[in-house]
Amino acid sequence: MADRISLTVDGQSYDVPDGCSVAAGVMQSTGLTFRQSVGGEARGPLCGMGVCFECRVTIDGEAHQRSCLLSCRDGMQVETGQQTASFAYASGSERRNVECDVLVVGAGPGGVSAAVSAAEQGRRVVLLDENAHIGGQIWRYDASAPTANPVDAWRTRLVDANVTITARAAIVAQPATNELLADVASGPVAIRYTKLILACGARERFLPFPGWTLPGVFGAGGLQALVKSGYDIANKKIVVAGTGPLLLAVGAYLCKRGADVTVLEQTPREKLLRFAASLAWRQPSKLWEAFWLQWHIGLFSYHPGCWVVRAEGAHQVHAVMVSDGQSTWSLACDALACGYGLVPNLELARLLGCAIDAGYVRVDATQQTSVPGVYAVGELTGIGGVDKALVEGQIAGWTAAGRHDLAADLTLARDTAENFVAALDETFSLRDELRLLPDKDTIVCRCEDVAYGPLQSHRDGREAKLQTRCGMGPCQGRICGPAVEFLFGWHNDSVRPPILPTTFAKLI
Ligand SMILES: Cc1cc2nc3c(=O)[nH]c(=O)nc-3n(C[C@H](O)[C@H](O)[C@H](O)COP(=O)(O)OP(=O)(O)OC[C@H]3O[C@@H](n4cnc5c(N)ncnc54)[C@H](O)[C@@H]3O)c2cc1C
Ligand code: FES
Repeated sequence: MADRISLTVDGQSYDVPDGCSVAAGVMQSTGLTFRQSVGGEARGPLCGMGVCFECRVTIDGEAHQRSCLLSCRDGMQVETGQQTASFAYASGSERRNVECDVLVVGAGPGGVSAAVSAAEQGRRVVLLDENAHIGGQIWRYDASAPTANPVDAWRTRLVDANVTITARAAIVAQPATNELLADVASGPVAIRYTKLILACGARERFLPFPGWTLPGVFGAGGLQALVKSGYDIANKKIVVAGTGPLLLAVGAYLCKRGADVTVLEQTPREKLLRFAASLAWRQPSKLWEAFWLQWHIGLFSYHPGCWVVRAEGAHQVHAVMVSDGQSTWSLACDALACGYGLVPNLELARLLGCAIDAGYVRVDATQQTSVPGVYAVGELTGIGGVDKALVEGQIAGWTAAGRHDLAADLTLARDTAENFVAALDETFSLRDELRLLPDKDTIVCRCEDVAYGPLQSHRDGREAKLQTRCGMGPCQGRICGPAVEFLFGWHNDSVRPPILPTTFAKLI
């Protein structure tokens, strides 16, 4: 990103790298605080992927834009919530109609392999994604180091097979049977389909602890996404904490970008060793990958059996308190990147009435959900990584195109990938001590500033929602929902359109 462009933030002009996201541009220019919460707390980006709404700003007069999803343009005017923003909303434009044989929602590994598989069998395929670039989470476009990305080869196949790719398009509602409504920058688009493949992926699970709302506390994948979109972390001291293989991937990536990284994994060492031993004979390539990532981070910078109990700082995080269950100690840091595994993005599957089993979309051997003609792939059917997403995408794409014979050949590969899901779930299960982290004043619902104390007296999530507004902010419970499920056992099975905030004008 050699070229620089001009970005105006709260009336001041700054030079930022061409190609960076608005969130990265603002972080580089004015710092980590983007808005004030309803209770007046300073807040900054958390998820880096369009889920938490903590990075929202006003861009060129249009309010409530998620700055992590948008790229900077030369001359762009940004107002953070620290200024009095002039709240104007984009007016709606005429709804366009599109028809296809197969609609694929989500352009991560699962979605691109599904789209290619169906299109190469001659089907008219539309592939859309809320992000500006295809690739999903693992193959996210890296503006800080544009190098070869596995998604490039898939893009060539998508283009050769005439797939219609629509980026920055979020599915928000289902206006009619076999029709979904996409909120696209150019206006609303109603897409009619014969078959639908859901490849909506996952987001990080965040657990509340004192200080987790401070600017500078990010998700683990969240910080990685922000760095890939242009945020410079060279020479910064970063604690990566939480659980799961993602911590290794993020830690190694941040090291490569010049940060000084310490990784805290809540899973005890003995459990990790058992997992490694099982990988050695089942999937040695994954074990080798894990060793390689750990080598990059530094063997003495990876600490199993430890977790963050508090983040400290006046206006942004400057230290974390860490525990191993026996003692606590302080670690100075410039940022904390903390995520407790992944949870699937079930909102659209739920809206369509797909059955959910044990937290994942229920599918048969052809990836078909309980709704005929609707398929689900990738993280939606179990958190299992890129190999699982790719093979399930192929099965769904071929089945949707009527090629059951081709899909049947992949049954063994799918079963192998699914064995990994159970092993991951078992190894990285959350320890009970994490339920004790929040105190009565710790914010649980970041959108509505609902603290842990007032939630404790409620019998279920519905009562808590009605009495406290927990889960009723713009993220629609995507952040606090998995947290209250872990803390109180409250499940949120309901979903209402629009599944993502949009303007009224685009819905009618
Ligand atoms: C933040 C994060 C970082 C990760 N980083 C790594 C990593 O570094 N290494 C690694 O091995 N694995 C990583 N993973 C795991 C990785 O995502 C999976 O292994 C794999 O990519 C899953 O593929 P998928 O196709 O199921 O979903 P994803 O890759 O998550 O793709 C889903 C896509 O669906 C889109 N989408 C969702 N809902 C809608 C909607 N309503 N409308 C339009 N589009 C929608 C999303 O924008 C997203 O691009 C990460 C996961 C997360 C959540
Ligand atoms: S950081 Fe942009 S929505 Fe979460």
